[in-house]
Amino acid sequence: MAASTTAPSPSHDAAAVILLLAAAVLACHFNLAAAVDPKCHCPGGRCRGLGVNYGTVADDLPTAARSVQLLRAAGAGAVKIYDANPTILRALAGTGIPVAVMVPNEAIPSLASSGAAAERWVAANLAPHIPATRVMYLLVGNEVLSNRAISGSTWRAVVPAMSNLHRALRRGHGGILRKVKLGTALAMDALSASYPPSAGAFRGDVADDVIRPLLQFLNATRSYYFVDAYPYFAWAGNRGSISLDYALFQGGASSHYVDPGTGLTYTNLLDQMLDAVVAAMGKLGYGSVRLAVSETGWPNGGDSGEAGANVRNAATYNRNLAARMSRNPGTPARPGAKMPVFLFSLYNEDQKPGPGTERHWGLYYPNQTRVYDVDLTGRRPSRSYPPLPPADDTDSSPAWCVLASGKAANETAVQAALDYACQQGSGTCVAIQPGGACYEPNTLDAHASYAFNSYWQKFRNAGGTCFFNGLAETTTKDPSHGSCKFQSSMN
Ligand SMILES: *[C@@H]1O[C@H](CO)[C@@H](O)[C@H](O)[C@H]1NC(C)=O
Ligand SMILES: *[C@@H]1O[C@H](CO)[C@@H](O)[C@H](O)[C@H]1NC(C)=O
Ligand SMILES: *[C@@H]1O[C@H](CO)[C@@H](O)[C@H](O)[C@H]1NC(C)=O
Repeated sequence: MAASTTAPSPSHDAAAVILLLAAAVLACHFNLAAAVDPKCHCPGGRCRGLGVNYGTVADDLPTAARSVQLLRAAGAGAVKIYDANPTILRALAGTGIPVAVMVPNEAIPSLASSGAAAERWVAANLAPHIPATRVMYLLVGNEVLSNRAISGSTWRAVVPAMSNLHRALRRGHGGILRKVKLGTALAMDALSASYPPSAGAFRGDVADDVIRPLLQFLNATRSYYFVDAYPYFAWAGNRGSISLDYALFQGGASSHYVDPGTGLTYTNLLDQMLDAVVAAMGKLGYGSVRLAVSETGWPNGGDSGEAGANVRNAATYNRNLAARMSRNPGTPARPGAKMPVFLFSLYNEDQKPGPGTERHWGLYYPNQTRVYDVDLTGRRPSRSYPPLPPADDTDSSPAWCVLASGKAANETAVQAALDYACQQGSGTCVAIQPGGACYEPNTLDAHASYAFNSYWQKFRNAGGTCFFNGLAETTTKDPSHGSCKFQSSMN
């Protein structure tokens, strides 16, 4: 799994293996391109890199087959998907890459209500792909406890759905799915307290009737509590008190934190968050359920005002995380514990709603270019990476929101977004009415850019985003022209 360095020992003749290894090491030594090849830092491919989340909320991604090549090129040791997409599962066949498959939130209530439904789900979604595709985890739902709209329908259905799926996996298909571990991916907001880590506790509204049965199931099946843990968000919300370097795994001794409850010393923010989960589990009597990190990472870009979201910090976080996890450090509360870890994510995904950071978590751009180099096995020496760009903090330069390049083609969609922006009031579109300073040029594209920007600047502080279903993007180039002034984020 992600951070594990063990692999089944090769069944070949030992001498042949040694020869092969020697040849590989020599090839890496003499080949300049080899510095970027993860295999060179993992003789014989005997170490596994971090897992990677392969999200697809985008309209411009490479094929699944190409995506699998990109995953391997980055040294990914496992992959997690957000459904049971048959095209992706087929593309992973024969690769040996461990896969985490997900049951979408909408499917949970019916899977909870009937064992037959669970059997059908497994037969339709997993059975066709095994054993060629190495399904290792089945996650039932994604951050369900973060969505109060489904509290009645879904929260209490998660564990019953897991039980039904567990039975279905053990029974059918020649027992080949017997070892698949079941879990559910939860965000840090399942906790009501996480600081200091020893104060970690689950939310009162879910502790007894959702989390307790979940932990009992995970303990009994020797599975993992899967947590989505983002030091980026914790840091971004508390920049006055948490140092950036501490969040990026490179804080000096002065930034280290001693938990007054346990006396344990923390050298980084991720460990602190994970041990808060450990403490919360302990309070319910399940202090030994294993942890897995289903998502973590750092955004490589974002909107003006989203501090710290840049290529430099993203590369630093992910490289340091990979190097750290390759040593299986566990956490201060659980030294040496093996922990599967999945980075978020493979691509920048242009259709994700919300602030700009949401669309900037990728290791790759959709055009298959790497956003930055990272060896997910964590073996590549940090000095062998090319220099990173400066942090270019978006905080300090003005920004505007405009129609994204290449998105003008669908006039229906652009018109609908323009209408939406203009219907929010506060005089958003006065300047593009006939006679207004920005009426000319009287084109859909020009008016859309004006309206997107005007909307964003007026409603940004109230949660308005520069998104418009992926039609909008931020820019640091002032779109004002003549007497038509576009308001910037700095005024
Ligand atoms: C957790 O599982 C172990 C092993 O099956 C069992 O001995 C233990 O009692 C379980 N813990 C709880 C709190 O149920
Ligand atoms: C890929 O996309 C990125 C971001 O838009 C761009 O900077 C880069 O130049 C592109 N690369 C190629 C080869 O087109
Ligand atoms: C254009 O956008 C509309 C509204 O979002 C959508 O229903 C339609 O499928 C799009 N057309 C094309 C050709 O993408």
